Amino acid sequence: MKIYANLKCNHSRKSFENYAEILDQDLKSSFNTHEIVVFPPSSAFSELKFSFRQGAQNFYPTLNGNFTGEIGLEMLEEFDIKDVIIGHSERRILGENDEFLKHKFDFAKEKGLNIIFCIGESDVVYMNGSSKEFLKSQLKELDLEYKNLTIAYEPIWAIGSGKSASPEYIDEILDFLRTLSSAPLLYGGSVNLGNIAEISSIKNCNGVLVGSASFEVENFIKLIREIE
Ligand code: PGA
Repeated sequence: MKIYANLKCNHSRKSFENYAEILDQDLKSSFNTHEIVVFPPSSAFSELKFSFRQGAQNFYPTLNGNFTGEIGLEMLEEFDIKDVIIGHSERRILGENDEFLKHKFDFAKEKGLNIIFCIGESDVVYMNGSSKEFLKSQLKELDLEYKNLTIAYEPIWAIGSGKSASPEYIDEILDFLRTLSSAPLLYGGSVNLGNIAEISSIKNCNGVLVGSASFEVENFIKLIREIE
């Protein structure tokens, strides 16, 4: 099972050092068969090697250059980062549109990075019953058979709301996504201790992308245990 932690805009370099050390110790001392990737803020990337991978929440599709405030591949390579999130709704809301996301996707693909491509519908789309059509449109023009692709289904209305989508609904959507791509499928959106076991047992669910419930390392460790 893929258990991915998106720490978003939380943790300083110092506090992530502590987070990483505790998680690393725990994974080393327990029997763990899961694939764990943690996405800290870029300012907190560590040069140390851990028993989990570090990934990037964001990057700019360039090696380096005149892109004020951005982080290019050269900066990710320094920390041996191979996993990148693309298309998170919290980036889309800041103006990353489908065209730019395709550009990021193609760049990451050309560089052989592991892409976690996020898609998800708003509550309006959900309520009017056009979720599948919408999700399909978010994936159009992307190479859905790229070998290092993972698709994360994250309904916007469930992210950070404390209320995940129902297992039946997640099952229906993942079934649909499976008809579009053979990439591993994740669910994200208020995954917590109370629902992770049920969500991760859904047929086409290959893992979870966890936000809030991963911010504290002790809680993230409990989540991992929950599906051991
Ligand atoms: P959440 O965030 O677990 O806090 O809902 C998930 C995400 O945004 O990836």
